[in-house]
Amino acid sequence: MKFFIDTANLDQIRQAQDLGILDGVTTNPSLMAKEGISGEAAVQAHYRAICDIVDGDVSAEVIATDFDGMIAEGQILADLHDNIVVKVPCTADGIKAVRWFTDHGIRTNCTLIFSAGQALLAAKAGATYVSPFIGRLDDISADGLNLIEQIRTIFDNYEFGTEILAASVRHTMHILECAELGADVMTGPLSAIMGLLKHPLTDAGLAQFLADHAKAAAEA
Ligand code: E4P
Repeated sequence: MKFFIDTANLDQIRQAQDLGILDGVTTNPSLMAKEGISGEAAVQAHYRAICDIVDGDVSAEVIATDFDGMIAEGQILADLHDNIVVKVPCTADGIKAVRWFTDHGIRTNCTLIFSAGQALLAAKAGATYVSPFIGRLDDISADGLNLIEQIRTIFDNYEFGTEILAASVRHTMHILECAELGADVMTGPLSAIMGLLKHPLTDAGLAQFLADHAKAAAEA
């Protein structure tokens, strides 16, 4: 399972990278805005800065919503760095754009996926990744994890090469559940990743080991 971090915050990306477990980064316009990044030049410089930190795929989202605009913007983003994956919303123009990018050798992440049908269309168009938003489904009393399971079954039935990128992961259990269901990738906040480390018996066991070591050293 690949681990992506879902942020545009460079410090958090560095922290995840330093752990040695990071496979990539996803961003979106809201995450860029949260870091105060705006304007074409600043956005592009920020994507380059992210690509300098992590040796893995970095999703960069188009702002345009029409086919021609997405193609123009996506080409500029893809030219920024070899690791850029163009993130395109799952709309009719978005699916057409995914097909165009696929045919022109540009990798894509089809985002804002909330149904298996949308994922199927994106895979048919050749998307590199589909991003089902599990947290946002949970937010409205739907079952985000069930969507991951459905998409896994469909992609396995037809051996689609498109990877399932579980997005809108909100907490540590989401990561584990996505791993059990066979999501290829998860993208989530640093806090959810760090949560995987936590266990009180690890802390207690380590404290005991150190206390015993100190006692033996004092007695020697
Ligand atoms: C995915 O690529 C999105 O950026 C992200 O996972 C959305 O997460 P949210 O629902 O927590 O905003």
